[in-house]
Amino acid sequence: MTSTRVLTGITTTGTPHLGNYVGAIRPAIAASQDESVQSYYFLADLHALIKASDPRRVQQSRLEIAATWLALGLDTDNAIFYRQSDIHETTELAWMISCVCAKGLMNRAHAYKAAVTDNEDTGSPDPDRGITMGLFSYPVLMAADILMFNANRVPVGRDQVQHIEMARDMAGRFNHIYKGNYFTLPEAVVDERVQTLSGLDGRKMSKSYDNTIPLFSSEKKLLKLIRKIKTNSLEPGEPKDPETCTLFQIYSAFANESEEQAMRSRYAEGIGWGDAKNAVFEHLNAQLEGPRDEYERLMQDPAHIESVLQKGAERARSEANTLLERLRPAVGLGRFV
Ligand code: TRP
Repeated sequence: MTSTRVLTGITTTGTPHLGNYVGAIRPAIAASQDESVQSYYFLADLHALIKASDPRRVQQSRLEIAATWLALGLDTDNAIFYRQSDIHETTELAWMISCVCAKGLMNRAHAYKAAVTDNEDTGSPDPDRGITMGLFSYPVLMAADILMFNANRVPVGRDQVQHIEMARDMAGRFNHIYKGNYFTLPEAVVDERVQTLSGLDGRKMSKSYDNTIPLFSSEKKLLKLIRKIKTNSLEPGEPKDPETCTLFQIYSAFANESEEQAMRSRYAEGIGWGDAKNAVFEHLNAQLEGPRDEYERLMQDPAHIESVLQKGAERARSEANTLLERLRPAVGLGRFV
């Protein structure tokens, strides 16, 4: 039986925060435990170069993200966990796909269009000012990531759905032009139940708003940040509304139903914000302290992380090679003998 292949990439430009954990990492690790699924999770470090030109930041982020996933218990015997840049076949495939991908399709990519609109809004005489070929062909590289492993399902945020549709388009064109069933058409999976978390200021938790709580902050820092979460001016003793409360939302993302219910009652009873924040801290910290210790340990042992990723790369490359050995002759780049 061939299992469903689930694949997703994590762009390595930042430090994982609670929002990443709840929205992407936790569901991905849970999904990888499903025996009927083969998961491919990779550090999208080639994509990181599009957004970040500081090598230290990219390098540090790759290490932090790898350590985070491992500390949280990703089973790398089961899931194939690798760095995109280790799969050299991906850039070769990206070129082949580029050659069947209509430029007009890329012109319609949201991220590219937004950059052009920005230029127009600021009155720049060049609509493509500051836009690199990396940004422009971002969806081609992403299609190569996905099509390389014939992924069926690609869990992504809503902003990435268009890229999966573009990957389907490119797969279809390639199959058509070279008259073969080389690529599976992938499907985007946007899980409605997966929560987006609010950040310190109540807007969506995101690096670009600078309102995040890093997943593995020290205990002290975690407490400090939780105390900073914006609340209203209701006094202790006054009933509070959990539905509109960022603090409560963050708590619930880490609580089971009965814990959530109990906190609801405390809100109704008028718990003071100081006490509520302490309770949320205690609750999160209890869940995070084990993985945090493991994370600290792993960050001190990059050789171990490197070996895990090498193992993943080996598994991934063996599949990638098999595919490319079919594709090269298909496009006319096979050996002579
Ligand atoms: N572009 C994705 C993001 O920013 C990351 C990514 C790169 C990806 N390649 C992928 C996601 C392939 C899914 C499949 O979130």
